[in-house]
Amino acid sequence: MGEYNLPKGLSAVLSHGKGSKVYDTSGREFIDLTMGWGSVLLGHAHERVAAAVKRQAALGSNFAYVSRPALELAEELVRAIPCAEKVRFCASGTEATMYAVRFARAFKGRDKIVKFEGAYHGANDFGTISLFPQRLLDFPAGEPTSAGIPRSVSENVLIAPYNDLDTAGRIIREHTSEIAAVIVEPLHRCTTPLPGFLEGLWRITREEDVLLVFDEVITGFRLAYGGAQEYYGVVPDLAAFGKGLGGGHPVGAVAGRADILDLCDEARLGQDRYVWFASSLGGNPVTAAAALATLKELREPGVYERFFAAGERLRDGLRTATAELGIPAQVLGDGPLCAVSLTGQQVVDYRSAFQADSAKGQALGLGLFENGVFLNPMSTKLYLSLAHTDEDIDRVCSIASKVLTEIES
Ligand SMILES: Cc1ncc(COP(=O)(O)O)c(C=O)c1O
Repeated sequence: MGEYNLPKGLSAVLSHGKGSKVYDTSGREFIDLTMGWGSVLLGHAHERVAAAVKRQAALGSNFAYVSRPALELAEELVRAIPCAEKVRFCASGTEATMYAVRFARAFKGRDKIVKFEGAYHGANDFGTISLFPQRLLDFPAGEPTSAGIPRSVSENVLIAPYNDLDTAGRIIREHTSEIAAVIVEPLHRCTTPLPGFLEGLWRITREEDVLLVFDEVITGFRLAYGGAQEYYGVVPDLAAFGKGLGGGHPVGAVAGRADILDLCDEARLGQDRYVWFASSLGGNPVTAAAALATLKELREPGVYERFFAAGERLRDGLRTATAELGIPAQVLGDGPLCAVSLTGQQVVDYRSAFQADSAKGQALGLGLFENGVFLNPMSTKLYLSLAHTDEDIDRVCSIASKVLTEIES
């Protein structure tokens, strides 16, 4: 949860949501482009998801033990996700990436990981390293974006530039014997992988015998039913899921090779590679019921075509809005994801995005918010759901055009 640091007078307390809209306690309606930071993939208060939750809540909301909905969900994930021989549930994306990295470190018996500059893997300690670095250090040095992170964490995270296979490959080769895994958001924030980048990472990690971990907390079930690994055709050793999978309920999952996930088998307690994995609410039956109802909707024919058409419409509309005013802008994203970076330079990584006019970007975000578009003005990522209509999207684009005209005048 966040309050988005909105100026006084603009902050809102939400009362409810329906479809693509949220409403605040004073009755204002917003088109929601936050969608619970991407956790509500079908739209707010989806009737069949809400009914599944109600049904399951009446049968018990948590047993911290295998339940029928959790088992069915695990079986569906194994069917859906290319790398998933096994899955293990937790309750957030932050936990899922933390466990994926723990598995990798245990499996390889090595401490270091490679992370891409500007990537977000949740609020766990390693996820804060070079998340929003203000000093652009020489690779592979990184620094935490949060206080309270032990120095040893930074020392064990090697930072590489996304989309730069030469530099990433050099860092991996120079530290091979110390690296457990490379963790990557296959779609890095909203920056798309250049042709060959993910394939190259896969190849180098095979050659150097390190694991490849996909953070699919955003891309999972959003770019394709089988996630980014299906969409880009690159299958990692491990993947972390969360957000959209839970239909707005607390969810996390680590999926991957059985020989790695088996390390958390309790029969291994006391052995040197045993992985401690525990989550009181992980795989709870209410979340599992919500996830099963969500996945059922996502398996309907035409769903991903609708996601992609909606994303294309939003990106096109925002491109037109900026181009008509001669504002240098890159409209990024894929599928139902979008971000606007106000720079004339192609955005391929954190450093090229860092050049963008962030003050103007924030003014655009605030202007959109003031005019009835719910988003975080500090962050530029815009999430669409299956409930967003062409009319919603066109309205957002015309508001963006109006706001940008006012900013430029
Ligand atoms: C790519 C990615 N990984 C992990 C996370 C953390 O997920 P959660 O907020 O559920 O802990 C996020 C959250 O935004 C994310 O974008």
